[in-house]
Amino acid sequence: MSFFAVKGGRRLTGEVAVRGAKNSVLPILAATLLNAGENVIHNCTDLRDVGSAIKILEHLGCRVKREGDTLTVDSAPANRFDVPEDLMREMRSSVIFLGPMIARFGKARVFAPGGCELGPRPIDLHLDALSKLGVRIENRGGEMVCEAREMRGRDIVLRFPSVGATENVMLAATACKGTTRIINAAREPEIADLQSFLLKTGASVCGGGKSEITVTGGRTDKRAEHTVLPDRIEAATYLCAAAACGGKIRLLNTEPEHLGMIVSELSEAGCEISSDKDSVTVERSGVLRAMPRISTMPYPGFPTDAQAQLMAAACVAQGTTVFCENIFENRFRHVPELIRMGADIRVSGNTAIVGGVKSLHGASVKCTDLRGGAALVIAAMAAEGESVINDVYHIDRGYEHMEKAYASLGAMIERKEA
Ligand code: EPZ
Repeated sequence: MSFFAVKGGRRLTGEVAVRGAKNSVLPILAATLLNAGENVIHNCTDLRDVGSAIKILEHLGCRVKREGDTLTVDSAPANRFDVPEDLMREMRSSVIFLGPMIARFGKARVFAPGGCELGPRPIDLHLDALSKLGVRIENRGGEMVCEAREMRGRDIVLRFPSVGATENVMLAATACKGTTRIINAAREPEIADLQSFLLKTGASVCGGGKSEITVTGGRTDKRAEHTVLPDRIEAATYLCAAAACGGKIRLLNTEPEHLGMIVSELSEAGCEISSDKDSVTVERSGVLRAMPRISTMPYPGFPTDAQAQLMAAACVAQGTTVFCENIFENRFRHVPELIRMGADIRVSGNTAIVGGVKSLHGASVKCTDLRGGAALVIAAMAAEGESVINDVYHIDRGYEHMEKAYASLGAMIERKEA
C-alpha cells in the first residue's frame, strides 16, 4: 500500500503542466459507446478512475488502446449492456454509462454507483429524468434493469443542477425521437466539453455550459477525435498549495477562465495572481490572510471539489475563515486529520470555522477521499517537520503521480510502499 513521506517547510517554485480533466474524460469515455465506432481521445490522464472506466468499456466489449495520453476506443464490437456490481462500486461515474447504454442498446443493467463517501449520493434525478424520456426502470434486488422501447424527447426540469444527471440525460437524449430540453442543467465546463465531443459524433446538442441544454435525437455514428479540457480542480489544487507553502509557481495548459472563484478568494488572501491565454502564475511572499466566507455552489460558484484544498491553506492564514459546504452532506472528513497536524477547526453541521495558526506540525494522517487527501498533502508541505500520508490510493483516483509534480516544484515528498 502506497503512502507519501513529506518533509514540510519548503516554498514552491517553478512550472507545472495541468493535465486533462478527470470529470470530463469520464463522461466522454462513456459517450464513446454512442457511435459504435472509433474514438480518439487526447489528454487522457492515467488516473485510477480512468482505469475503472476502461474496465467497464472492455467488459461491454469495446477495444481500448492507450498510447501516452491518448486513448483509442473502438466501440463497434460492444455487445453487452450490463455493468457488474464490483465495477459499479469502483467509482461514482460508472452511473454515466446508463444513458449511452440505453441510447445504444435500448437496454441497460446497472447497480448503485460507488465513489468518494461524501454523504448520501442518490441517483434519483438520473432515474426520474430517464423514466420521463420513456425508460422503464425496475429495481431487482439492487440491480436496476432498464428498458426503452421508444424514447421521446421532452422538457426535463432538474430539481438540482446535478452534473451527473445532466450528463446522463444529454447522452440518452441523443437517441430520443424529437427534442429534449434540460432545464436547470449543470453549467460546469465539463458539460460543455462533453457537448463538444458529442457534436463530433454527429449529435445535435446546444447550450452546454448554460442552464438550458437542447438535444435533438438523431444519428451519432461519426468517428470522433477530441482533446479533453484541462483539469480546473487540479489547477485549483496547485494554487492552494502555493498559497499555503509560499513561493511562486506557473501553471501551464490551463483555462484561467474556469478558475474565477478560486483566483478571487486567493487574491483576497494576499496572493499575487496573473494569467494569460493558457497559463496562470501565483505568488505568495507576504502573509496569507484569512478569507471572509467560502460557500460551495454549483458552477460558476465556488467548487466543492476545491473546498478541502483551500481549507488546508486557510489553516495557516492570519485570521478566521468560515467554510459552508452546500453540495455534499459529509465533506469535512479531512478535518480530524488536519487537526492532528495542529489545525484549529470547529465543525457544526455544514459549516467549518477555521482559525489560522502560526504553523502546522508534521503527523501521520490518513486520506479519507480524493480531495481530502489532496488537502492533507498541502498541509504536510506547509507544516514544520515530517508527515506520513496514508491511503494515497484515494489521491491516485484524480491526480497522476501528484508527488512528482510537487517534487518538481521543490517540495520534499516521496511515494513509498508499506
Ligand atoms: C460531479 O459529481 C463530480 N464528479 C464531483 O467531483 C463533484 O463534486 C460534483 O459533480 C459537484 O460538482 C464527476 O464529475 C465525475 P452531482 P456528481 O450529481 O455528478 C445530489 C471529485 O472530487 N444528487 O452534481 O455525482 C448529490 O447527492 C468529485 O472529482 C441527488 O440528490 O454530482 C449531491 O448532493 C467528487 N440526486 C448534489 O446533488 C441525484 O440523482 C450534487 O451532485 C444526483 C445528485
